Amino acid sequence: MKQWIIAIDGPVGSGKSTLARRVAELMGYIYIDTGAMYRALALKALNRGLSLDADAELESLAQATRIDLQANSDAGAGTQRILLDGEDVTTAIRTPEVSQAASKVAVNAGVRHVLVAEQRRAGIAGGVVMEGRDIGSVVFPEAELKIFLTASPEIRAQRRWREHQQKGDQIDLQRTLEEIRERDKRDVGRATSPLVRAADAVFVDSTAMEPEEVAKLVVMLANDGLARRATK
Ligand code: DC
Repeated sequence: MKQWIIAIDGPVGSGKSTLARRVAELMGYIYIDTGAMYRALALKALNRGLSLDADAELESLAQATRIDLQANSDAGAGTQRILLDGEDVTTAIRTPEVSQAASKVAVNAGVRHVLVAEQRRAGIAGGVVMEGRDIGSVVFPEAELKIFLTASPEIRAQRRWREHQQKGDQIDLQRTLEEIRERDKRDVGRATSPLVRAADAVFVDSTAMEPEEVAKLVVMLANDGLARRATK
C-alpha cells in the first residue's frame, strides 16, 4: 500500500515541528522540516555578508548550496541533524537572528523554486510528514492528508519564549510576540507561496490542546483515511 504524504503547515510557533516529529514517530514515517532549509540558506547568506534583498545572488546561492537533513536518532526520535555544505548547523540555525533572516530569504521566488524542487524530491515516494508554510498548497498539493495548525499569537510567543528559556537563552517575551507578528506578516503577505490554508486542509487550533492530543488526532485521521483507501 502506498504510504502517505502528510503535509503540516501553519504559522511560527503553532507547534508544527513537535506535531510533525511525533506523527512521523507514531506512523514510522520520515520527518522533513522545510523551515530548516530556509534557515540554513539564510545562515550561509549572513555568514557571507550577502544582502537579504539581493534576489539574484540569493537564488544563485541556493543553487550552489547543499542542505541535508539527516536522522539523528541518538538525540531522540524524530531528531534531525542539519548539514549545510557538509557542516553541522543544527544549533546555529535556531538563533533569533537566523529566524528573522530566514523569513526574509523565504520571500525570494527564485530561492523558493530551488528549495521546493528539493523538497519534492525528498518527499515524492511518500511515507513522509513534511512541515512548513506551503507544503499542502505548493510543494505537495496532492498530499493525501493536509493539516493547517495554528494557535493564538500570544500562546505561540509563550511557547517560543519557553523553548529559549529551556536552552538558557534570555529573550524578552514582549519582543518575541512582536517578532512573531512581524514574521506572520511576512509569511502571509509575500507574493510567492504565502502562508495560506489549502482548501482541503484540516484546520486545527492548538491554543487549548496538548501536543499529544493533536498528534493522536492527526494519526487517527491518517489511519482512518488509509483504512478507507484500502477497502476501496
Ligand atoms: O518553520 P521555521 O520557523 O523554521 O521557518 C523559518 C522561515 O522559513 C519562516 O520565516 C518561514 C519560512 N518557511 C517558508 O517560507 N516555507 C516553508 N515551507 C518553511 C519555512
